[in-house]
Amino acid sequence: MKQAAENAPLKELDDWDDFVAARYRQGKSEEEFRNYKADANPTVTEFYRQNHAGQTLDFVLRKKAEYCGLNRGKKGIWEMAEYLNTLVDDSDPDTDLTQTEHLLQTAEAIRKDGHPRWFILAGFLHDLGKVLCLYGEPQWAVVGDTFPVGCGYSDQIVFPEFFAANSDSAIPEYRTEYGIYEPNCGLDKVHLSFGHDEYVYQVTRRYVPEQAQYMLRYHSFYPAHRHGAYRHLMNAHDERMFEWVRKFNPYDLYSKGRERPKTQEILPYYQDLVSEFFPDKIDW
Ligand SMILES: [Fe+2]
Ligand SMILES: [Fe+2]
Repeated sequence: MKQAAENAPLKELDDWDDFVAARYRQGKSEEEFRNYKADANPTVTEFYRQNHAGQTLDFVLRKKAEYCGLNRGKKGIWEMAEYLNTLVDDSDPDTDLTQTEHLLQTAEAIRKDGHPRWFILAGFLHDLGKVLCLYGEPQWAVVGDTFPVGCGYSDQIVFPEFFAANSDSAIPEYRTEYGIYEPNCGLDKVHLSFGHDEYVYQVTRRYVPEQAQYMLRYHSFYPAHRHGAYRHLMNAHDERMFEWVRKFNPYDLYSKGRERPKTQEILPYYQDLVSEFFPDKIDW
């Protein structure tokens, strides 16, 4: 699906994922990490400019009201995975993995390490929320590292200079450390920038264990799970659950370079797995 160019600076939605993977390339020194701009091509930079300018508290609340009531109809998990595959952008179908292949690759890497079935399932589900792009949302409201809105921005967020263009930056109440939140209020009470993480969490939360809910909801919250930022908003339960978010992250980051999953061979396993946790159709 083609989007208006101004809403889609990335050639493919996965260019953001690739940038994050390059940023956290295994064995990279802290100094190399700080030079993340070297890994960002102009389209990625433009993407962050739009993301940091557009993700205001008001925008997030509007998007949550629009999508988190799950009133876009009933569909099965597989039906949605196939729908997500129609998101092809300008990618080369011969070399690039489909969205479902990325999900299977992540899940397979988790399975090979002997993790429980719900963990494997989280790998298979984690990016289904990218269908927001097919609903017509701009790339900057679908992907991107997530961060709390309505309070001061951590200096651990990439491209912090772009927050100057966010209209929340002019609201003094939103610029303090805690902003509109209470100390250690717990992340469930904190609004993160809107994207595929929140949406897939809302869709699947009734069906998967809490550890998986955290993995899905916070897998792009790099400032917190990679850099330890925003602990002043987290409670003790979040801290414990973030162990799982951190366990999940390498599979998202590093499963991409692996060989193409043998979809036909492994499909029966995943059909079983999905029907163990989900009814035929769920609300989206
Ligand atoms: Fe993701
Ligand atoms: Fe992913």
